[in-house]
Amino acid sequence: MGNKNSVPISRGKSTDSNDSLTKEPQAPESASMYGEYYSIKILNKGSSSQTILARKPNDTRLYTLKVIPNEHRERNLNEASILRDLLGIPNITQYVDHFDTDQNLIIVCEYCKGIDLFDYICDHGRVPESDAKYIFKQLCTAMAAVHKKGIIHRDLKPENIIIDDDTQVTIIDWGLSFYPDRTEERASCGSPNYASPEIITSGCSYNGPEVDVWGLGCVLYTMLTANMPFNEEYIPALFDMIRQCQVVYPEGIHEEAVDLLKQIFVRENRVSLEEILGGQWLNPAEGWYSSGSTNNI
Ligand SMILES: Nc1ncnc2c1ncn2[C@@H]1O[C@H](COP(=O)(O)OP(=O)(O)O)[C@@H](O)[C@H]1O
Ligand SMILES: [Mg+2]
Repeated sequence: MGNKNSVPISRGKSTDSNDSLTKEPQAPESASMYGEYYSIKILNKGSSSQTILARKPNDTRLYTLKVIPNEHRERNLNEASILRDLLGIPNITQYVDHFDTDQNLIIVCEYCKGIDLFDYICDHGRVPESDAKYIFKQLCTAMAAVHKKGIIHRDLKPENIIIDDDTQVTIIDWGLSFYPDRTEERASCGSPNYASPEIITSGCSYNGPEVDVWGLGCVLYTMLTANMPFNEEYIPALFDMIRQCQVVYPEGIHEEAVDLLKQIFVRENRVSLEEILGGQWLNPAEGWYSSGSTNNI
């Protein structure tokens, strides 16, 4: 598989073998404070934000704080309000609060125990088909509920999906999400490898849901093959591959999964989430069984 933000493939195990975090209910003196939250460790440093694992005094729950410098405040206020609209939808990161400090906007979410799907695939290789179905069904069901609210994620990829020991997944990172019905904005955004043809074609409009279906197709392909469907370092060549929907299907993926992916990786008449959820691959006559446990996370 490729690499994530130039980090070597294997980042190691869970972000949360956190017994060392114990159940200390008070802030250590050296901890950085954000409002009433105190920092435990940095989970990720992005180009425009940092994500921090945090706690509150006298509260044993874990939280994530997305710390966004004021210059990016406006864009990320959108993320906070979308997260609030998504409250209660299963398999979506749960919003807790947002507030300002002198220099930053802070978005607080519940912490999801587990690791991201990218690292999981790097560590374990291909996801067995029955587990991939179990995961994909959760993702499609959650995204169908999100789309019903008129919201599009626009950055679906393995790095933005957390998987836990019971193979339950949570979709995180709503920084590029938007309401297509409320704005003319149709940015070309997200990660190039997971972008759909309409997103990377200037002047080409999109409604929204079809962009997320493409992203989910990329996630499914990556689970089944441990490779990205469109993987080319030279960006113009990558975009040509995407526009021409050039995908190689390696040995070992079932025909029905390939059929589904071929209905996703098309420019026109892409299959909808409802069709995927009611379709053959997720509803085989013989049924299917997922172990429901990914172990070793
Ligand atoms: N709710 C959460 N639970 C657990 N880990 C999280 C959560 N939110 C973010 N993270 C971790 O922080 C990383 C960065 O967060 P993300 O929202 O994706 O920000 P960015 O915009 O920098 O990609 C994620 O890849 C994940 O490892
Ligand atoms: Mg992210």
